[in-house]
Amino acid sequence: MSTPSIPGIERVLFTEEQIDQRIREVAAEITGRYAGRTLKLIGVLKGSIFFLTALARYIDVPVKVDFLAISSFSNKSGSPGVVRIAKDLDDAIEGEDVILVEDIVDTGFTLRYLLQTLAGRAPNSLAVCTFLDRNSRRIVQVPVDFRCFEIPDRFVVGFGLDYNQLYRNLSYVAVMKP
Ligand code: PRP
Repeated sequence: MSTPSIPGIERVLFTEEQIDQRIREVAAEITGRYAGRTLKLIGVLKGSIFFLTALARYIDVPVKVDFLAISSFSNKSGSPGVVRIAKDLDDAIEGEDVILVEDIVDTGFTLRYLLQTLAGRAPNSLAVCTFLDRNSRRIVQVPVDFRCFEIPDRFVVGFGLDYNQLYRNLSYVAVMKP
């Protein structure tokens, strides 16, 4: 694929075909791990919805979906990592096999908070699946059970990831110019 004529985009990192192929592989891993069980996929709005729907279609066990939204901000001393739930799940997760689905894990603050919060609701199991992992930016260590791609420390858009709320609907992932 040639570089698309969208202002600000430097190059394509993962094409639509590469993404589809990798999502199929991860979905097959999940299908194997959860054989005979019913799975609940929890998407973190908004970025993860594109990945979640693509992933869910390739998972071959019964799947339920639910969504939550978070807001994150810096505290008074300017340190990042303060997270709260802005929209909670519709349903309880007690006794369920849950996979938290993210578009990207960066510092890990969001995931740490969500895992602590959801673990307190007594699911049968709780795992994490992320589309992208920018591990080089990790500040707090969090468990990631399934990941599609590790990415470099660059700003990326597409397939759910935005720049000022734009570009989420791109079918590929691209690196923005510095
Ligand atoms: C992204 C992503 C995670 C969070 C990860 O959400 O979906 O929730 O950032 O960052 P962290 O590991 O540093 O905590 P974002 O705030 O961009 O919201 P969006 O999904 O609506 O774009």
